[in-house]
Amino acid sequence: MTTPRLTHRRGRLVAAVSGLAVTAVTVALALPAAAAGSTLQAAASESGRYFGTAIAASRLSDGTYSSIANREFNMITAENEMKMDATEPNQNQFSYGNGDRIVSWARSNGKQVRGHALAWHSQQPGWMQNMSGSSLRNAMLNHVTQVATHYKGQVYAWDVVNEAFADGSSGGRRDSNLQRTGNDWIEAAFRAARAADPGAKLCYNDYNTDNWSHAKTQGVYNMVRDFKARGVPIDCVGFQAHFNSGNPVPSNYDVTLRNFAALGVDVQITELDIEGSGSSQAQQYQGVVQACLSVSRCTGITVWGVRDSDSWRASGTPLLFDGSGNKKAAYTSVLNQLNAGGTTTPTSNPTSNPTSNPTPSPTTTTPPTSGGSCTATYSEGQKWNDRFNGTVTIRANTNISSWQSTVTVRSPQKIIATWNGSPTWDSSGNVMTMRPSGSGALSAGQTTSFGFTVQHGGNWTWPSLTCTAS
Ligand code: XIL
Repeated sequence: MTTPRLTHRRGRLVAAVSGLAVTAVTVALALPAAAAGSTLQAAASESGRYFGTAIAASRLSDGTYSSIANREFNMITAENEMKMDATEPNQNQFSYGNGDRIVSWARSNGKQVRGHALAWHSQQPGWMQNMSGSSLRNAMLNHVTQVATHYKGQVYAWDVVNEAFADGSSGGRRDSNLQRTGNDWIEAAFRAARAADPGAKLCYNDYNTDNWSHAKTQGVYNMVRDFKARGVPIDCVGFQAHFNSGNPVPSNYDVTLRNFAALGVDVQITELDIEGSGSSQAQQYQGVVQACLSVSRCTGITVWGVRDSDSWRASGTPLLFDGSGNKKAAYTSVLNQLNAGGTTTPTSNPTSNPTSNPTPSPTTTTPPTSGGSCTATYSEGQKWNDRFNGTVTIRANTNISSWQSTVTVRSPQKIIATWNGSPTWDSSGNVMTMRPSGSGALSAGQTTSFGFTVQHGGNWTWPSLTCTAS
C-alpha cells in the first residue's frame, strides 16, 4: 500500500496568514491538531481503511485518468477484465491479458487489488450460458480454481460470488443457470476459491442490500450467518452501493453494515456511485463514508470509476470527478468526512436474543386533549443482538386533524433509525416526538403506524409512549 503523504496544513496556513496576527491565531486554533490527508487514499489510511476505484484497462493510456487514479486511490478493481467472459472466453482457454495489465499497473504503483468476480449469472461467456447441471457446476468450479490460482498472492479480496439474491420481497435466491445446479453452488464456489488462494479474503458481493429492512438484505444476512455457523469459508461481504433517486442511501446504512460485521465478516463498499449533482450528491456520499467509518470492520470503500465520463452510468454523473477530471463537491465531502473520522462502534459478537421482552412497560397511553383523542400502541418487531425494532400504531378515538406521539427510551438505549414519520428529538436524545410526514388526519377508528430501531445496549425495556391529537 502507498504510504500516505500527509500535508501539514496547519503549518502552511499559519505561515500564510502570519501578517494578520488575530486572524492567524483564530485560523490555527480552528484547524484539527492531526494532519489531514490531502487525497482520498491518504485520508482513508488515517483510520486504516483503503479507498479504491474500478479501472478499465482501455483507459490506462489516458493520462488524466491514470494520474487521478494513481494519486487518489490505493485499491483497484478491474471493471470488467477479470469477469468470467473476459477470463475464459472459450471453455478451458483462459485469457488474462487485460486483467494482468490492471493488476501490474496497480501493483507497480503500490496498490492492492480486489478481484471481481469469480462466479456470476451475468457476463458469462457464451459457452457457459447454455450449460446446466453437473457440467455447469464443474465448469464453474474449474473457472473459480483456475482464475484464483492465476492471481494467487496478488489479490487482497475476491468477489467469489456476485449478485446471487433476487430483488423484491422474496428474500430468496435469484434464478439463474448456476442456481439451478443446486442451492449449494455458492458455498462450493467459496470452498474452491479458498483452496486455490488461501491468502485472499473471500467476499459475497451484491446490490440492493444496503437497507437493513429490505428482504434481500435479510436473505444475504441469513446466508452469511449460516455460512459462518457451518464453517463455509467467507471473510467479507461487499455492498455494491449503486444509488440514485429511486434507490437512495438508506438512513439505516450503518445498521446494515454493523449487523453484517457482527457475524464475524469484514464489510466493504465495493462499487459506490450515486447519481445526482451538487450538494445533494455530496451529502449522500458523505453519509456512505460516515456509515463505513462508524463500523470498525468496514475496511474500505471503492467507487465504480474515476470521472463521470468513465462511469457505466455516465448520464447520471455519479462519481467524484467531472468529465474533465475536476474534483466535484462530492469529492470534497468524501475527503472531509474521511479526515473528520467517525465514531466507530466496536462490532460485538452475536449473542442469543431474548424471545420476549423481559420487562414490558405499558403498551398504550391515551391522554385526552381538547382537540381529540388518540391511542398509541407498541408492538415488538425483529430483535438482534444489539438492537430491536418497534412499531407504534396510532388509533384515532375521535375524528382528528393531526397527531403526535412521543417515544421515550431508557439509557443506554438509543433510537437509531425511524420510518413512516417525521421525528424530532429532545436534547437528551431519549425522547423522540414523531409527527406524520404527510397529512395526519384520521377519522374515528382509523389507524396509522410508524416504526423505529432501538440500539439497546443490553436494556430490552419497551419504550413508553404518549399520543396527542388535535
Ligand atoms: C458493469 C461495468 O461497469 C460495465 O462496464 C459493464 O458493461 C457491465 O458491468 N454490478 C457489478 C459490476 O458487479 O460488475 C457491474 O459493472 C455493475 C453492477
